[in-house]
Amino acid sequence: MPSLRLTLLLSAALLSCGSARQNLLKAPAVEHSWIRNFASIGDSYSAGLGSGDRLDWTCSRYAKSYPNILQNTLLERDEERQHQFLACSGATSTEILEKQVQALQHGIDLLTVSAGGNDIGLTPILSNCIYQFYMAGEDDCEKSIEEARERISDRAQLYSNISKLIDAALPKMNPDRGVVYVTGYAGFFGVEDEVCDNVTWAVWNSVESTKQYLKLELRKALNEMVRSVNAILRKVTEDVGPNVRFIDYDHHIEKARGRYCESGVQEPSPNRQGLSFYEWNTVDAGENSTELQHRTGDDVPKGSFEGGIAERINKTLQEHPDWQFDPDKGFVNKSRAGVGEEGLIEDTIHWMLPDSWKRVFHLRPEGHEIVARLLLEDLDARGPGRKEPEMEEL
Ligand SMILES: *[C@@H]1O[C@H](CO)[C@@H](O)[C@H](O)[C@H]1NC(C)=O
Ligand SMILES: *[C@@H]1O[C@H](CO)[C@@H](O)[C@H](O)[C@H]1NC(C)=O
Ligand SMILES: *[C@@H]1O[C@H](CO)[C@@H](O)[C@H](O)[C@H]1NC(C)=O
Ligand SMILES: *[C@@H]1O[C@H](CO)[C@@H](O)[C@H](O)[C@H]1NC(C)=O
Ligand SMILES: *[C@@H]1O[C@H](CO)[C@@H](O)[C@H](O)[C@H]1NC(C)=O
Repeated sequence: MPSLRLTLLLSAALLSCGSARQNLLKAPAVEHSWIRNFASIGDSYSAGLGSGDRLDWTCSRYAKSYPNILQNTLLERDEERQHQFLACSGATSTEILEKQVQALQHGIDLLTVSAGGNDIGLTPILSNCIYQFYMAGEDDCEKSIEEARERISDRAQLYSNISKLIDAALPKMNPDRGVVYVTGYAGFFGVEDEVCDNVTWAVWNSVESTKQYLKLELRKALNEMVRSVNAILRKVTEDVGPNVRFIDYDHHIEKARGRYCESGVQEPSPNRQGLSFYEWNTVDAGENSTELQHRTGDDVPKGSFEGGIAERINKTLQEHPDWQFDPDKGFVNKSRAGVGEEGLIEDTIHWMLPDSWKRVFHLRPEGHEIVARLLLEDLDARGPGRKEPEMEEL
């Protein structure tokens, strides 16, 4: 039990200090000084989109993301420990591999990874099924869920891409003790009752004909999709070996009643105690709702979603005279409109939104804390990675 011995040594050392009693109470159960090089790669679920103070603009990294909570709060303070926080909102596994893995230093002791959500098209699904930015109807919603299912079940897609990403990261790990933690996603919805069935989060509230409601069936389908992504992530980590581990926090968010539409909750309920995800009008403790509207440097009034979008569309059209807005598709290149899908300017509406809107369907600080704690618990229980056994030991 080397860690127990270490703790005892540490306690003995502290006893000889001034405020020993106080320090003793705070002494960590497990030492983490072996973590010299800590790194975090991934998508917005690692970047912590919207959670806490903003750390940068290009990748929308935030202070209350689980990697940053680990580095600055949960792992004991250690001047020697470096943290490369490379996660970037919107990144697919291919982009994470090409940009973030390449940028990793050598000799990483602890690496955290979140990837896959953007590969299966989570944004188009939420856009088509929930916000309906493009006035997508039920068919579009079903179609995008179906496409996601195919990518999840096709071994040559999600499984293969995540495997490649992990394989590319392994040579960057410390060969003696490096350990990789892959974090999954959590189902967004409670599915115990039908209270939510008459609620819609469609943004064009006036267009009744296409509006989708948060019906039990849709909520179940979206949860199921998240579960199957988690199952693939778990499978990839198991197939790589014991130094790559999976953290499944889905059940913990459920236990905390952290999802939208938990039983008995009449949505919208954006500031409900225990809600783990952001809603449109969530204002976290310590946030200034007035400032929140200005957080991205723009002046979109958060209170009026439809008005705000219309305004931004107008502004965008002024900036890009060669574009036009097609409510079914989004922005289209005027000179190429009508020529199949060619003129489509992809995902523009989504990416021109301020983070205070984009963070919907992302974890709040409480949610990131759940992920960070689970990860640390697992790390403390299973310890650092182990060197591959030599041939003669086999
Ligand atoms: C997997 O990677 C390939 C090559 O980068 C890419 O074309 C494909 O779209 C990716 N699949 C998924 C599901 O992201
Ligand atoms: C949904 O139905 C409940 C009663 O079951 C009602 O209190 C609530 O106002 C309704 N919400 C909407 C958006 O119609
Ligand atoms: C919130 O921010 C606005 C604009 O920066 C400021 O005028 C206001 O005093 C702030 N309110 C609080 C409670 O800090
Ligand atoms: C957008 O522009 C149109 C016409 O150019 C105008 O009628 C409309 O009021 C504008 N909307 C907003 C929110 O500025
Ligand atoms: C729109 O199409 C024209 C003609 O094909 C092209 O020159 C221009 O670069 C396109 N603009 C954008 C933003 O794609």
